[in-house]
Amino acid sequence: MTETPARRRPHPLVAAAATGDLPGWAVAGSERRAHMARVARLLERWGIELRLRKAWITRWRAAGHLHDALRDAPPKRLAATLPPRFRRLPPNAYHGPAAAGHLRRDGVRDRELLHAIRWHTLGSPKFGLLGKALCAADALEPGRRGRREWRRELRARFPSAPDDVLAEILHHRIDYLLRARQSVHPRTLRFWNSLVNGS
Ligand SMILES: [Fe+2]
Ligand SMILES: [Fe+2]
Repeated sequence: MTETPARRRPHPLVAAAATGDLPGWAVAGSERRAHMARVARLLERWGIELRLRKAWITRWRAAGHLHDALRDAPPKRLAATLPPRFRRLPPNAYHGPAAAGHLRRDGVRDRELLHAIRWHTLGSPKFGLLGKALCAADALEPGRRGRREWRRELRARFPSAPDDVLAEILHHRIDYLLRARQSVHPRTLRFWNSLVNGS
C-alpha cells in the first residue's frame, strides 16, 4: 500500500530536496544538477496543472531533484551499497535503487516517492502517478537535445493523458533498442505492457 503522505509534513530531507538542497551523499555535477532542476520544474508545472495539493507538489519537486542524486557516482561504488537483487540490473540503472536506499536509511518512508526514484530508469508496472510523471519528465525536460517539437508536444499533453504520453516515450525507446539490436529489460517491457493493457 502506498502511504498517504499528503496529510503529514514531508520528511525534512524531502522538503530540503524540493528546494534543490540535496543530501550530503549526493554525487552529481553541475550539469546533472541543472537537469534535475529542470525535471523538478516540469513536475511542479504538471502538479499545478493537475491541481495537486501543495504537499504533493513538494514531493513531486523533490523527486525531480533527487532522482539522479547518485548518477555521477561510479556504478562499481554503487553496486557495493546495493542488495544482491539490484546488482543484476544494468549498471546504468544502479543510481535509482542506490538513491532510494540512501533515502530509506535516512528515514524517508514515502513509498510512492521511493518507488518512483528506484525505478525511474527502467520503469515499473506498479508506478503511481508520481512514478509515471518522474519517468516522463526525465525524458521530456526541455534541456534534452533532439526531437524538440516531439518533446514540447508531449510535455503539454502529459497532464491530460499520462499513459498515452508514456506509451509514446516507451515506444520510441524500445523501437530504438530493437533497431540497434540491443536487449530490452524485462521490467521496461512489463511497464510497456501495463500501459497498453490499461492495467
Ligand atoms: Fe537517472
Ligand atoms: Fe534524469
